[in-house]
Amino acid sequence: MYKESTNVVVKHLVNRLRDITTTSNEFRLTIEEIARIIASEALNNYPTATKEIETWQGSLDVEMIDVQKLVLVPILRAGEPMLTGILRTLPYARSGFLAMKRDEQTAQSKLFYENIPNLEDKTVLLLDPMVATGGSLIDGIEYLKSKGAKKIVSLNILGSQEGVAVVQKAFPDVDIFIAQIDPTLDENKYIRPGLGDAGDRAFNTND
Ligand code: PRP
Ligand code: URA
Repeated sequence: MYKESTNVVVKHLVNRLRDITTTSNEFRLTIEEIARIIASEALNNYPTATKEIETWQGSLDVEMIDVQKLVLVPILRAGEPMLTGILRTLPYARSGFLAMKRDEQTAQSKLFYENIPNLEDKTVLLLDPMVATGGSLIDGIEYLKSKGAKKIVSLNILGSQEGVAVVQKAFPDVDIFIAQIDPTLDENKYIRPGLGDAGDRAFNTND
């Protein structure tokens, strides 16, 4: 399934990303903020574990997210601020990394680097702000499955209608939580209206 956020704060923040006057520093911080909200939406029905903690009035059984069962995997570069944001909320989650780059001419993604921890019994939160053709996400999911991932949840910020549909069709078992979906892709496979190149906007390399 995929779920587009209905949260008005998320919409507001996505529109800050669309605004071309938003500086790269604010762009990264905004991605962090949106990622934290989307992660909360995705984890809302995630099973919790009972844990005994010591409170100021003695011991108490409480429900906690079993953070040790989560693995956060950003697709670099643009996924990096999503990781930073979510780690502020869940600092003890494990992280893995996939570094991919879309070819400018063909829009095919290529994996340059990976470092994925043991995924046995884990839920992977796969982090990439942009789903344009869906190619990078599909490659990322395939790679994680080849490493043994059984449960993958994709957290994204902006997608094209067709990109999200392609990923859903390829992997109906992967849940997608996305901030917003735009109608089309342009001739260069950029999301329209979109926000431009997220990696370049985030890391100040768009000149
Ligand atoms: C962007 C984006 C996604 C991908 C989406 O990354 O962050 O990973 O493109 O496009 P797709 O759905 O058509 O595959 P890019 O390859 O430009 O690298 P970057 O993060 O370093 O900018
Ligand atoms: N990558 C981006 O960063 N933006 C797009 O619109 C498409 C791919």
